[in-house]
Amino acid sequence: MTWQVDILTLFPEMFPGFLEFSLSGKALNRGEWSFCTHALRNFGLGNHKAVDDTPFGGGAGMVIRPDVLSFALEATQPKDNRPMVYLSPKGKLLTQASIQHYASGPGVYLICGRYEGIDDRVLRHYPIEEVSIGDYILSGGEPAALIFMDACIRLLPGVMGSLQSGVEESFSKGLLEYPHYTKPAVWEGKHVPDILKSGNHQAIALWREKQAQLITQERRPDLWERVANVNK
Ligand code: ADE
Repeated sequence: MTWQVDILTLFPEMFPGFLEFSLSGKALNRGEWSFCTHALRNFGLGNHKAVDDTPFGGGAGMVIRPDVLSFALEATQPKDNRPMVYLSPKGKLLTQASIQHYASGPGVYLICGRYEGIDDRVLRHYPIEEVSIGDYILSGGEPAALIFMDACIRLLPGVMGSLQSGVEESFSKGLLEYPHYTKPAVWEGKHVPDILKSGNHQAIALWREKQAQLITQERRPDLWERVANVNK
């Protein structure tokens, strides 16, 4: 069964973007995931196919009209039980756990906004989940949608192949990942830690676990606190 993504956007040509390359591109060719874009412009009003208007209450920017968005949603929303996700900086923060949830389902229906966003009433009228990919503002929902898709696609069965790196990486245990090294053993006078050349797999695993803890404590005290609370 293919993991299906529908994308409602003003810029359909932005897809599949970089997902055409590397592991996600191969998985697309093998049919492990598929996508379909829906151009919001096709549902616009009048000769100019207008999709947005000025905000009530004043202020900068334009807001996507609820009637236009609703026409588009009614015509294109999934008939199956795929979640509808609106990408927005004021959404719930995306985590590896939520990515695992979306990747383990049949797919998603992604709504990309531009300008100041979409009329808030639409978000209450439809069962739409509002999701942010991080605490920064992008120029629109499309790059966020591509990142959302990338993070899900690499978790689909078969996509990573024998690369089991998905299992032991940053966040899978709530910790950042330990540092990696490869040849040469000495580079620019810097040595690979001796333990990694010891062949003692148990000691290496312990060292890596400790490194992951130290890096998380230092760089992401918020994550460290969460892990500490879970283990209480
Ligand atoms: N659109 C603009 N900024 C965004 C963000 N940080 N996350 C999701 N969608 C966005």
